[in-house]
Amino acid sequence: MSPTIEQHISLQPFNSLALPAYAEYFCSVSDEQELFSALEYAKQHQLKITPLGGGSNLILAGDLSGLVIHINTHGISHHSQGNSVEVTFAAGENWHQAVLTTLEQGWFGMENLSLIPGNMGAAPIQNIGAYGVELADLFVSLRAVEIATGKLVKFNKAACEFAYRDSLFKNVARDQFIILDVTLCLSTVAEVNISYPALKSALESHSGTLTPEKVSQLVCQIRRQKLPDPAITPNAGSFFKNPLISNSALTGLLEVFPQMPNFPQPDNFTKIPAAWLIDQCGYKGLTRGSVGVHKHQALVLVNHLDGGGTGEQLLELAEEIREGVWQRFAIRLELEPRVYGSIKEF
Ligand code: EPU
Repeated sequence: MSPTIEQHISLQPFNSLALPAYAEYFCSVSDEQELFSALEYAKQHQLKITPLGGGSNLILAGDLSGLVIHINTHGISHHSQGNSVEVTFAAGENWHQAVLTTLEQGWFGMENLSLIPGNMGAAPIQNIGAYGVELADLFVSLRAVEIATGKLVKFNKAACEFAYRDSLFKNVARDQFIILDVTLCLSTVAEVNISYPALKSALESHSGTLTPEKVSQLVCQIRRQKLPDPAITPNAGSFFKNPLISNSALTGLLEVFPQMPNFPQPDNFTKIPAAWLIDQCGYKGLTRGSVGVHKHQALVLVNHLDGGGTGEQLLELAEEIREGVWQRFAIRLELEPRVYGSIKEF
């Protein structure tokens, strides 16, 4: 079946920041055949393609020319081997629903990543992570279609070049592939990872056996306390990456800011929480028109919607924050979500 291709479609319902922007052409595909038809249509009409998943990690700075393809494919399959189970999820599967489904099946490993917004197809692009686990820890492979040629390509873990909130698909392969499905390796043995400090301290008041289901519930609880629900307060999660600085830069900074939290990383680098840097500059809770900084988590920028914030306003606020952090700490913050339809790339 060919998908219906529409013109001038509002993308406001398709992005978790609820930013106003239009797609020149738009279609939603519910299987791979529809996706290939959409790619063929774009080729014939020489349209640029923008794939769209859950819309929870993008900033629409303006209208999008060409064809926006909403990936709405579904399906989960698996095969077990000993205590492991390899599970393949179609790109359109909602991430959190996938976490719940696997827990119901007795397949463990995704629990720390509960309640992360967005769909499966986007997860490898930025190597989603939270509470001590990242996608790369569970990842086996993905299948993708190369936009230019229509060829199917399989990427194993090494080929994806995963790093902190980063992968091949944010770098050299940017905009070249559409991810079709993702295979993860889960375990049928209930082991929990509670190494992350916030999780460990939340567990201090917990009694009874600690199961992956319990960890999932706890992570949901922590996230609900700290992070605004995009359905109520539109947002895209962390707006900036936590910066990595050299250990020598850290030594200098600690002399001036001895209380600066820091997390040692490999190769003489240290990760500094961007939320702390932004918070110290006094931006938490700041409002600029309809957009602002969340009052409980300085790393999250929100669209208050009352006057209908735009991508441009949000990027201006982001720039103000980056400049403030740079002036105070000489650390450059990098944007975490991707900007589309903008003249200026960060
Ligand atoms: N902090 C502040 N002010 C704040 C919030 C936090 O000073 O307003 C300090 C905290 O005291 C803590 C540190 O910042 O020392 C770290 O805070 P937190 O544990 O909340 O995590 P984060 O670094 O802000 C990262 C991820 C989140 C993920 C959490 C939990 C990035 C960019 N963000 O946030 O991911 O959920 O850890 O693992 O790595 C996302 O990517 O959208 C996201 C929400």
